[in-house]
Amino acid sequence: MKVLLTGATGFLGEYMIQELLENNYEVVAFGRNEKKGKYLSENYKNVKFVKGNLENREDLEKITDQIDFVIHAGGLSTVWGRWEDFYNANVLGTQNILNFCEKRNVKRLVFVSSPSVYAKKGDSLQVKEEEAPTENNLNFYIKSKLMAEKLIKESSYKSWVIIRPRGLFGVGDTSIVPRLLKLNGKIGIPLFAGGNQMIDVTCVENVALSLRLAMENENALGKIYNITNDEPMKFKEILDLFFAEMGIEGKYVNFNYPFTKGIVTILEKVYSFFKIRKEPPLTLYTLYLLRYSQTLSVEKAKKELGYKPKMTVREGVKKYVEHNRKS
Ligand SMILES: NC(=O)c1ccc[n+]([C@@H]2O[C@H](COP(=O)([O-])OP(=O)(O)OC[C@H]3O[C@@H](n4cnc5c(N)ncnc54)[C@H](OP(=O)(O)O)[C@@H]3O)[C@@H](O)[C@H]2O)c1
Repeated sequence: MKVLLTGATGFLGEYMIQELLENNYEVVAFGRNEKKGKYLSENYKNVKFVKGNLENREDLEKITDQIDFVIHAGGLSTVWGRWEDFYNANVLGTQNILNFCEKRNVKRLVFVSSPSVYAKKGDSLQVKEEEAPTENNLNFYIKSKLMAEKLIKESSYKSWVIIRPRGLFGVGDTSIVPRLLKLNGKIGIPLFAGGNQMIDVTCVENVALSLRLAMENENALGKIYNITNDEPMKFKEILDLFFAEMGIEGKYVNFNYPFTKGIVTILEKVYSFFKIRKEPPLTLYTLYLLRYSQTLSVEKAKKELGYKPKMTVREGVKKYVEHNRKS
């Protein structure tokens, strides 16, 4: 069976390839990064790279193989940027994938959305899939993911599953953990409410597993699933795990929330007004993540997909630190 994987050249991509190959699938890896694509096709048997942009229908037509399943993980994944870039990559890109699935009679499409769609001011614990709002304009990334989900739900192509995986971490992560470690080496990690807010994270290996389960499981058709490690922890507790494993001291700075919120609100307005492309030092979205508890219920995925994380947070942290020590 052959799987078209978009976002193959990204962080999750290589883990997804490994998960698929271990389960005897062949992979058509799609992306723009030719260097990474070449690396993937040269280092993995049964992986073929097709260079292309999701925004161009014609690029998807370059795929000549018979495709059984599509895992759509490609997209613009960041907290700041221009609406047109998010729209093109995440909304138009998803529409092109839907057209591809319909035209090629693909058995199943698995779309990687994001739990950032639940983001809001205030604590929320054990959030269920159906609690997602229909609109959330906290940032363009969230807006584009919700629009892409809507396209899928309303599409004439009915064989889909949507997965919302929370806070991926693992070897190769270039965003969450490296950012926090960098902060620790500089001004320190900002703590609100003493870092006692509960959060979820997910080992990237578990996300890849959940996507394969969603692709294979008949129960999943037309449904949406949250994915986490199912180990909610306090924000500071996770960071302390990292620092203990690394043998370094965590440097924390207690921030005043109302004051910081005021500054961040102004900064976002200034950056938007002057169309500054560089990301502000902190965005409202990140501030809410740092300030409020948010955990997700994964009961539905456990029950219907048989999802059981194969790596614990501790094991993931250990693997990450060991790898970084060697390299
Ligand atoms: N990381 C997280 O914590 C997290 C959490 C929830 C959901 N997600 C979602 O999970 C997916 C994978 O995330 P990630 O962390 O692996 O992201 P990533 O490392 O930023 O990778 C993004 C991938 O999307 C591809 N892509 C972007 N725009 C494209 C375009 N116009 N045409 C073709 N390919 C395009 C990139 O390929 P090229 O650069 O080669 O084109 C890359 O392979 C994303 O959809 C993201 O929104 C991530």
